[in-house]
Amino acid sequence: MRFTRRGFIKATSASVFLPAIIGRAWAAEGGAPLPIPDVMDLAGGTMGELTAQLGKSQMLQGVSTETAGYSQAFSGPVIRVKRGETARLKLGNTIAEPVSVHWHGMHIEGAQDGGPHTPVLPNETLDAALDIDQPATTLWYHSHIMERTGAHVWYGLAGMLLVDDPDAADSGLPSTYGEDDLPLVVQDRIFGSDGAMVYTPRGPSLMHGYRGSEILVNGAIRPEASVPAGMVRLRLLNGSNARIYHFHFEDGRSFHQVGTDGGLLPEAAAMTGLTLGLAERAEIVVDFSDGAAVRLLSGADTNAMMGGGSNAGGAFEIMQFAVNPGLAPKLTTPPAMLAGAPVPDFGEPVRRRSFRLDMMGGMMRMRGGGGGMTINGASMDMAVINEQATLGETEIWQISASEMQHPFHVHGTSFQVISQNGVPVDAAKVGLKDVVLVNGTAEILIRFNRKADAAAPYMYHCHILEHEDAGMMGQFTVA
Ligand code: C2O
Ligand code: CU
Ligand code: CU
Repeated sequence: MRFTRRGFIKATSASVFLPAIIGRAWAAEGGAPLPIPDVMDLAGGTMGELTAQLGKSQMLQGVSTETAGYSQAFSGPVIRVKRGETARLKLGNTIAEPVSVHWHGMHIEGAQDGGPHTPVLPNETLDAALDIDQPATTLWYHSHIMERTGAHVWYGLAGMLLVDDPDAADSGLPSTYGEDDLPLVVQDRIFGSDGAMVYTPRGPSLMHGYRGSEILVNGAIRPEASVPAGMVRLRLLNGSNARIYHFHFEDGRSFHQVGTDGGLLPEAAAMTGLTLGLAERAEIVVDFSDGAAVRLLSGADTNAMMGGGSNAGGAFEIMQFAVNPGLAPKLTTPPAMLAGAPVPDFGEPVRRRSFRLDMMGGMMRMRGGGGGMTINGASMDMAVINEQATLGETEIWQISASEMQHPFHVHGTSFQVISQNGVPVDAAKVGLKDVVLVNGTAEILIRFNRKADAAAPYMYHCHILEHEDAGMMGQFTVA
């Protein structure tokens, strides 16, 4: 059983290996105040420190849970970096197995990217220098070790990162961190009868991806945020391993999406529901000026192989919002046009590549065989460079997936989705992405402006972490 052989899991409770008592073994009634992560601001050359460690977290009533985090018990600080600067951090690791810090969505060279070729070994440190040059946006960071990413993220090695752009025009959006600008890292987890987090992907939970029965937002079960009676910006990150969310408010209120993976949208888009696939981010602005408390819900995740899995069920609660009349709203009118949104300019594509995501090898693995999930017939092999791209060239990538939806992610850049199942996509509505949820065939326009050599190549992969760990990943260089 590959998830049990090393220190990481050994250090948590042995009951991790027992079947989960799903649901209500512990009183997990939710409603605690939304935790607002500490900010690690690296602007102006401040040196940061991020050390992977094990810890104990109070997530359930009356029992503590062994977790992992970066310089904290679970998850990590919200890191803020500034465009035009080099952000510097010292990365450490006190866990008994290699971890990494991958800067998901960051336009940085392969050597800085924190993928599986650049681990932080136990009790060693690594200096990270990140040349920040991309539009303001909401990114995240997480461990990214071959065959271990799912376990690492599940136990807590993931956090949010914000890129600020001092030269961009002021978007006019709410921006007081923790007051009207809230980070929301949404994750689902399973707890065992002793309160331990349980991560045992096998059989169907390997094939469909591993889902939890409890929802955490910033590490707390279905918490409550206290917000001013005005416009509040929510930076949503789907930091789950496999669950796709279909967010909506219980009272059906509409809200505006203002940002996506790669930055702000040119124009705020009104909607009442928002689907967020794995690793995707969305910034939304919600009007709380009516003073009413409201719950944020998600529709059921039905993403499973045909005939498999039973993900049916109704909407479930993510968190709740209570309006605090003592907090002064800074903005009371909904956003419209957004100044400072990136203006994509991809130029003409010179090449086409196709990527076919396949789960058959996973079926074999599920039955005890040695198969892996594949892209273009190959499982991830650290020693094989699957593709070579040229610096500055624009390409069209066609990604196809059968059986279920797969969130396809590419390192080192942002791309534009140009079609889904042959239907053209409106770029102004979707914005710049680094993950595209593929349900059939999607085409993206992509260009690489940073280098990655064979010693530290970029990855492309399915961001259902159990699929990634089972081999649905490839690597490429840019020169
Ligand atoms: Cu979010 Cu290859 O990663
Ligand atoms: Cu990434
Ligand atoms: Cu997948």
